[in-house]
Amino acid sequence: MKFQSTLNLILAALALVANAVPIIPHDEIVVKSSQGLRLLSLAEGVDPVWKTEDEKLELMRAGINFFDVTEVYELEQKFPPKSDFAIAATFPAPSHQAELAPILSLVSIANMQSYLNTLTAFNNRYYKATTGAQASTWILNTVKSITSSRSDITASLYTHSWTQSSIIVKIAGTTASSPVTIVGAHMDSINLSNPTSGRAPGADDDGTGTVNLIEGLRVLVAAGFKPSTPVEFHWYAAEEVGLLGSQAIATAYRNSGVQVKAFMELDMSGYFKPGTQEVMALQADYIDQGLNTFLKSLITAYSRIPWAMDIPCGYACSDHASWYKVGVPTVFPYEAITGNDNPNVHSAADTTSVTGFSWAHSLEFAKIGVAFVYELSV
Ligand SMILES: *[C@@H]1O[C@H](CO)[C@@H](O)[C@H](O)[C@H]1NC(C)=O
Ligand SMILES: [Zn+2]
Repeated sequence: MKFQSTLNLILAALALVANAVPIIPHDEIVVKSSQGLRLLSLAEGVDPVWKTEDEKLELMRAGINFFDVTEVYELEQKFPPKSDFAIAATFPAPSHQAELAPILSLVSIANMQSYLNTLTAFNNRYYKATTGAQASTWILNTVKSITSSRSDITASLYTHSWTQSSIIVKIAGTTASSPVTIVGAHMDSINLSNPTSGRAPGADDDGTGTVNLIEGLRVLVAAGFKPSTPVEFHWYAAEEVGLLGSQAIATAYRNSGVQVKAFMELDMSGYFKPGTQEVMALQADYIDQGLNTFLKSLITAYSRIPWAMDIPCGYACSDHASWYKVGVPTVFPYEAITGNDNPNVHSAADTTSVTGFSWAHSLEFAKIGVAFVYELSV
């Protein structure tokens, strides 16, 4: 009995140590990922768990969000989560109304429609599909042609271990090389019944956010925008399968010491339920309150529609969560209050012809994207 209880004590002590330092060994990650298993983080403060690709897809079909941390788990060990890496999240009130008004008037629905027509013509933009990679190349070529006259702007692929690359446009700062202001959207789409080859136009999710940012970049370049601190536009690969692209980039930025001033995600901006009040729904969790206060004032200054706070979006609900996790102030204005948002996502029915789709609505988010980077970097 004595021995038994001593053993129990030792086991309990070992369990405590294991709980305190829940590091998955390198060899386990190598072996399990080579077997096709994925390491998923399903909730805040809970150790990640191994799942098969089929189990992962079942979670997605059940509407359960997660970070797929298979490729970033070890990189994340370099810094504890949510350190004080971020610059203090206080932001001045908008003050560039006079300069921004003519720039915002350049934002064109016709251009966004044209960009979206190309994006939705790919059978899907799945992260492992050839068409997913082709969509990425098309975005790269489009933003390259928009920025080709500017030697202070670079547009490049950010490659990953899977087929589809993320795209990053960097506008250099005229007076400083940091901190960086970032706006992001995700380029990938998914048909949840048949991810690899099923039709997934992804018009709203997240074609709208994607074209809001392309058009926002276009008007800023057309206006000769030269920020004092750097600005980046990101189009992420593989958001739909556990925020893979944004996690890879956010972790790499943090580990190489890139200072990020603020991050805003645009993921779905083209739909609100017919008969409901048109708002910009501000996500309530995994965001920075100071930056959200700033976003509210931006919307009041630059949009014809009001903001409203949404209910919490939950763990790992879009790319802003990847930046939040590395300590960057984030915000996420969304097309409608949860429940009034687009019910057709992740299917062949996510098109611009659904009742409730509105370019006039999406236009407001493109404008807020422009105002966000301008006010924070000029
Ligand atoms: C997935 O794709 C198939 C084939 O393109 C299509 O028939 C099906 O309706 C799609 N599934 C959903 C949920 O839209
Ligand atoms: Zn999305």
